[in-house]
Amino acid sequence: AGELARVTCTVAAEPIAKEEMAKEVPKEIFLKDYEKPDYYFETVHLNFALGEEHTIVHSNISVVSHPEGGANAPLKLDGVDVKLRSLKVNGEDVKDGGYSLSAKQLILHRPPSTPFKLEITTEIEPQNNTTLEGLYKSTGNFCTQCEAEGFRRITFYQDRPDVMAKFTTRIEADKSLYPVLLSNGNLIEQGDLSEGRHYALWEDPFKKPCYLFALVAGQLASRDDEFTTCSGRKVSLRIWTPAQDIPKTVHAMYSLKAAMKWDEEVFGREYDLDLFNIVAVPDFNMGAMENKSLNIFNSRLVLASPETASDADYAAILGVIGHEYFHNWTGNRVTCRDWFQLSLKEGLTVFRDQEFSSDMGSRAVKRIADVVRLRISQFPQDAGPMSHPVRPHSYIKMDNFYTVTVYEKGAEVVRMYQTLLSKKGFRKGMDLYFERHDSQAVTCDDFYAAMRDANTANLANFGLWYSQSGTPILTIYTSYDASAHTFQLKCRQEIPPTAGQPTKEPMLIPLAIGLLGSKGQDLPLTSVYDGASLKSLKDDCGNGVTTVVLRVEKAEQEFIFTDILERPVPSLLRGFSAPVRLVSDVADEDLLFLLAHDSDEFNRWEAGQTIGRKLILSLVSALQQGKELFINKDFVNGLRSTLCNSSLDKEFIAKAITLPAESELMDLMEVADPDAVHTARRFVVKQIASSLRQEFLDAVNTNRSNEVYEFNHESMARRALKNVSLGYLASLNEPETIQLALNEYNTATNMTEQIAALAAIAQNPGELRTEVLSKFYEQWQKDSLVTNKWLALQALSDIPGNVKNVEALLDHPAFDMKNPNKVYSLVGGFCGSAVNFHAKDGLGYRFLGDMVLKLDKINPQVASRMVSAFSKWKKFDLHRQELAKWIHMGR
Ligand code: PHE
Ligand code: ZN
Repeated sequence: AGELARVTCTVAAEPIAKEEMAKEVPKEIFLKDYEKPDYYFETVHLNFALGEEHTIVHSNISVVSHPEGGANAPLKLDGVDVKLRSLKVNGEDVKDGGYSLSAKQLILHRPPSTPFKLEITTEIEPQNNTTLEGLYKSTGNFCTQCEAEGFRRITFYQDRPDVMAKFTTRIEADKSLYPVLLSNGNLIEQGDLSEGRHYALWEDPFKKPCYLFALVAGQLASRDDEFTTCSGRKVSLRIWTPAQDIPKTVHAMYSLKAAMKWDEEVFGREYDLDLFNIVAVPDFNMGAMENKSLNIFNSRLVLASPETASDADYAAILGVIGHEYFHNWTGNRVTCRDWFQLSLKEGLTVFRDQEFSSDMGSRAVKRIADVVRLRISQFPQDAGPMSHPVRPHSYIKMDNFYTVTVYEKGAEVVRMYQTLLSKKGFRKGMDLYFERHDSQAVTCDDFYAAMRDANTANLANFGLWYSQSGTPILTIYTSYDASAHTFQLKCRQEIPPTAGQPTKEPMLIPLAIGLLGSKGQDLPLTSVYDGASLKSLKDDCGNGVTTVVLRVEKAEQEFIFTDILERPVPSLLRGFSAPVRLVSDVADEDLLFLLAHDSDEFNRWEAGQTIGRKLILSLVSALQQGKELFINKDFVNGLRSTLCNSSLDKEFIAKAITLPAESELMDLMEVADPDAVHTARRFVVKQIASSLRQEFLDAVNTNRSNEVYEFNHESMARRALKNVSLGYLASLNEPETIQLALNEYNTATNMTEQIAALAAIAQNPGELRTEVLSKFYEQWQKDSLVTNKWLALQALSDIPGNVKNVEALLDHPAFDMKNPNKVYSLVGGFCGSAVNFHAKDGLGYRFLGDMVLKLDKINPQVASRMVSAFSKWKKFDLHRQELAKWIHMGR
């Protein structure tokens, strides 16, 4: 996405030198070039005069020098799209030759000796800021987004996370238009001014990087509550939205209080201020932002009612409210030295929110959902041209580095510490990390060192997980020696070459494993030979174990379990103990056995998925060879037993009977064939549906929720099972099953069941589909978050030639090009439909190409998130590659 930097200055500046101009070309920034700043900022006093035509920002900074920094070195300040109105040093105007100004920088050539006062006045136009970075307006209210580099759109500053200062913020605005004025920290003063204006003064006692700065001004109401911390302090909690949405903030408030309690109980982390604010805004590029004590959220991650939000939305709200709250310690109190370290806060905080959600619901189901996400999005990213390590070596635009690799793979890396060190050891590492680094800006190496030192652990080649990209392939061959009673594993790890990294070193991979006996029971594991020595296996309390974590450290390594009295069925990589692609010789019948018996619920699910993947991929090649398609009866029977097993959690069943997604299947192919994958998967869906028709009917009929909507695991699980079953039934497109879906649609009392019934019906093109879709729109047209679901459902559809419908929806009143959520629903949704986005006529690619060009002029960040759909282009056949290249680069 292009850069639209604009030079605007009213103060006469030195003409921009040629070399300066050359610098405006996007430049690659390297981790290895990191240097400490020459100057630090101690305190920053900001004053905002908010206005309709322009906003004036005055900043007053106390500058000190870095102990080892060069004395009187030039002070370089970042600034984009800001007009400089005045510049003073120690109270005096800086003369014309004393500074220079370019499109992105203000350089003070000869600063005086430190400490000194720097005063800068800038003028900005938030009302015209469509990038949604810096200060902007959303439905009439002012709000900010400063991560990663948005603060430079507000005023000139050293916009880098290792510059941490104490901020005070004074906001001045029209009182009737903007009755609520918020910023970070504590409100210390407020009052009226002349001409109908008022002000508020906020002080944040904690030093922070400017990316955590926030300001909100507007017409907002709040839901107020209180939380008493473990040490007995009372914290006021406020969730701010337009008044009419306040009833929809019950679940967000519940989530916030649960998160605060959880962080105390699990990590011993207490909240550190007397006030915590959350503001919901409809126009937001990302999910939410952890600004100190003033989190700003995309409304879709705050507002929920049973009628308008699905169980998935409720779960996402819980997770993201938790995520942003947890950042207060992992991100804010301890922050990142530079943006290459982004995973230090994001990987860790995603891990924490995953654990939080697990503890609040079902651990196995949460783990399954997270692994699916990793496989659908991160594995393909790591195998394509955008592949990068968890801690990237370089970047051009930081905004584009908020990736599934930094977040989700980063969380897997943190999880592996816990798997290797145990929960207790991990907690010790966390405690040491906070003890060493509170109020510092640090690196992933510091985190690694804290984990290692707190546990005196050998983490030798574990650090490579941060620097090597690509998904390791872990191949395991097993054999049983009946006379010696030994079970052997031969492991090989191989990390495929990726962009910029042709060769790789072996890494430490934690391999959790268990062995099942012939009755499905876990066999006791007494000792294992790991290539160096024989280790006896006991847990911390000296008890016997049935799962062990093996350390796979070398390219090839052998493990031998002793005292295994019968041929076992191995359960490999339990709980998905490392983010690898597992290849093993475990036979189909053993996988079916695991599906029926494994005590590790994740692997029980995984066994079914592995058979499903094999089956569908074999059908794909049958299709490509023009052969007839057959379904594996044992697989269907395995699914039947799972579906009918009343001792299993229903949400787990729902996951276990769901087939691997098309994108996951395409990722496993040498050359992805979207049409064949789609056809083969649909074939299997319908075969399952007709074989298990009665079982699915029973599941729908016995899991209806008549009661009032409840957000708890049991009722969500019932809805999940009912909805998956309904989807299967409707795929048959028989009058009886369609009537059933229609009935479910008409009688639904919550969005979870309503949207699932709509999706079930919408699988089949025809009049009924059109009818129900317009009925849904009529009912919900005033609720923008619900119409997003309506847009996404249509955009994602695999009905042939759907690009035309999607293009027509661009002109629908429900769509708005300036609202990121709308774009993600319609354009992003469309790119999620493999058959239509990758259609052979090239119309899908052309559509995305056109959209990206338009979006780039409005909001480059949204444009670049959309364009990433092209990044898998090398996975496809030459015809599609040519089409994509032509659209993406040729125009
Ligand atoms: N830091 C935010 C998070 O919690 C994400 C974000 C990044 C939001 C950049 C806005 C801009 O993950
Ligand atoms: Zn985050």
